[in-house]
Amino acid sequence: MKIHPSILSADFANLEAEMATISSADAAHIDVMDNHFVPNLTLGLPIVSKLFEVSKLPLDIHLMIENPERWAPAYAELGCDSVTFHLEAAQDPIGLARRIREIGSKAAIAIKPNTPFSEVEQLLTEIDMLLVMTVEPGFGGQKLIPETVSKVAAARAAAKARGLSIAIQVDGGVTESNVSLLADAGADVFVAGSAVFSAQNRNLEIAKLRELANSH
Ligand code: DX5
Ligand code: ZN
Repeated sequence: MKIHPSILSADFANLEAEMATISSADAAHIDVMDNHFVPNLTLGLPIVSKLFEVSKLPLDIHLMIENPERWAPAYAELGCDSVTFHLEAAQDPIGLARRIREIGSKAAIAIKPNTPFSEVEQLLTEIDMLLVMTVEPGFGGQKLIPETVSKVAAARAAAKARGLSIAIQVDGGVTESNVSLLADAGADVFVAGSAVFSAQNRNLEIAKLRELANSH
């Protein structure tokens, strides 16, 4: 069970110090938004490359951008641990996943709440991780959409049936109150933005979330 705090809820003017407060995380989740695929704009390659200089945490890149073919390989080349692009934005998801893996990063595909799991099912053999969005992408601090939980279960069942041990990540509205439910459904990588960054002691909150996920 892995906890990936989303730095979308961090203080962007103090990223070095903010990264230090989540040192026990399994990776830092970085939300890249382009104000086209989602109605919000965050950060891109220049800032991600600086994060490598100030933190040893593996970086989990979540691209909420149009034309991911244009940008995803560069994040892999920087040495990001995983690069996630959205199925809804990709022209050639198989080709892009293969390209990311060839460069040496884990490849992941994300699906929005209204995208059925069946649209990504055939691609599971091409990826290391599936990201099931549990809110509409774009903003932190939203409530988890309960209907998305069954999609996690369907994804885990399909992966098992194919003998695939891929990671299933959930992102959006993850809190202490729903993390074990999500783990029950089959998720094993949990993104938490506001839950971690609003905590007084972020490493303690990470430990709590991890323990709740492990004791499902
Ligand atoms: C939303 C982002 C999430 C966001 C999660 O579009 O992909 O990573 O930061 O934030 P919380 O945990 O606050 O819902
Ligand atoms: Zn995200």
